[in-house]
Amino acid sequence: MPDPQAALAALMSTALHAGYGPDFAHTDPVIRPSVFADFQSNVALALGKRISQPPREVASVLAAHLADAELIERAEVSGPGFINITLSEGWIAAAVTAQLTDERLGVQQAGQPARVVVDYSAPNVAKEMHVGHLRTTVVGDAFVRVLEFLGHDVIRANHIGDWGTNFGMLLEHLVDIGEEAAYAQLAAGEINAFYQAAKLKFDADPEFADRSRRRVVALQAGEQETLRLWEMLVNDSKQYYNAIYLRLGVTLTDTDLAPESFYNPMLQGVCDDLELAGVATISEGALCAFPPGFTGRDGRPLPLILRKSDGGYGYGTTDMAAIRYRVTGLRADRITYVVGSEQAQHFAMVFATARQAGWLPDSVRAEHVPIGMVTGADKRRFRSRSGQSVKLIDLIEEAIFRAEEVIKDRYDDPGLRAQIAESVGIGALKYADLSVARDSSYVLDFDRMLALTGNTGPYLQYATARIRSIFARAELDPALAAGPIIVGEHAERALALRLLGFDAAVSQSADTVEPHKLAAYLFDLASDFTAFYEQCPVLKAADAKTRLSRLAMAALTLKVLALGLELLGIPVPERM
Ligand code: ARG
Repeated sequence: MPDPQAALAALMSTALHAGYGPDFAHTDPVIRPSVFADFQSNVALALGKRISQPPREVASVLAAHLADAELIERAEVSGPGFINITLSEGWIAAAVTAQLTDERLGVQQAGQPARVVVDYSAPNVAKEMHVGHLRTTVVGDAFVRVLEFLGHDVIRANHIGDWGTNFGMLLEHLVDIGEEAAYAQLAAGEINAFYQAAKLKFDADPEFADRSRRRVVALQAGEQETLRLWEMLVNDSKQYYNAIYLRLGVTLTDTDLAPESFYNPMLQGVCDDLELAGVATISEGALCAFPPGFTGRDGRPLPLILRKSDGGYGYGTTDMAAIRYRVTGLRADRITYVVGSEQAQHFAMVFATARQAGWLPDSVRAEHVPIGMVTGADKRRFRSRSGQSVKLIDLIEEAIFRAEEVIKDRYDDPGLRAQIAESVGIGALKYADLSVARDSSYVLDFDRMLALTGNTGPYLQYATARIRSIFARAELDPALAAGPIIVGEHAERALALRLLGFDAAVSQSADTVEPHKLAAYLFDLASDFTAFYEQCPVLKAADAKTRLSRLAMAALTLKVLALGLELLGIPVPERM
């Protein structure tokens, strides 16, 4: 199914070639949707300047070439040299009818499937999983869903923090309170309390601090009882994340864990190899890489610390091991890190060091997808009223509780009501993360995310339920609608063109890792459908052909909305 904008770009390239020769065939066609026609191209403005010809003249040469294409009804020059393009009604109708019966709804498979490692979620064992982790989880999960739908080979990598010197005090605290109590606390998500109690003792009690240090040594030496306790601690935390993933409909499972401890045996080799290659040197007792282009405020080169002066390895060392493993072991073509924006410099330094060492060839795309902060109304990191960090499970439950308030008048059956409230609450919470440009921060506001109007999860869920109810009223099955679709009215035409843009919206969001663009597309689609439904009677259409066409258009809108929401990971309740 040709996306009209892409089809036009191809035609324009042919026109440029015919009019101005091969050198200009690949000039950016600058095609945008237009209010004066279906699309407008501004290519003649820049091209005219480049070849010193009046843009209007260039525009009319190109327009004449375009006008011959079957896809185009009219191509007209306007203003200083714009080309207004109106597509052929028959072409739009045929394309959108074909989209309806295509099981991929027009979304093309990737021409070249790539192996993509996606590093996301990555909470830390025995440390709170905060709203920031919720956002990297939700954005990363939408990304992997889209990639897989496009036919890429995705490896999810949940780089959980399960290793480090902190574990000394955490394990000693576990021993102190007893395994059962620790289990109960951690699996319930009382992670912060556990961590803080350990830290308090560590700071106040020298005997405890001493024991903790010895425990770190035992852990690193692989002492059996210590490893058993450590594993227990990790498993307890994992239960909590898994419960959250399941509740949220996040696709991560235990098989996707690529914990920091996994790289532990590789760290010494990482240091030795980087030192041998001359990429790392000893500085003030620590082994450091100084990737070119990174300097501190004082103008001195910034270190990526690989081995501290006490011999310990850190976060950066693990990331160097991970990147080498992902390139050589996993054979990734693309490595995407969906992590908070405050770690931008860390990843830039890891990539630069890896490139310097020859561990990250130019053929492999490595990118940090920076995720902005979730804040409270005060624009600071989201906290509870008492200033405590909020347990994620409580946040999820609050969203569901409030969703039930919003929909409570619509249902008498409490079971059904609870089920729909779950979808609406979770959809609202996830969509709030997904609809905002991923690197900007946003204010977590339950009232706004649960609103039934505006760019919200519930609005889109409601849009699908509303279309289903049209079919229910007519006692028809939307899956059986087949058209053919005709596009006479303005609102029909606008909706059809929007539907044809689905392919572009999906593939673009995969390329730039911007699910908010897919979200914005779905919102625009739902709005176009509303305009269509107001202006074009469906069940009461003037004749049978028109009715069939409009039902088909409604069915296709429903399918695109449902698939789009599924790709974002938003649940789609049948009724609402
Ligand atoms: N655990 C880290 C944190 O909570 C995120 C890890 C991200 N991934 C990575 N490869 N460094 O900040």
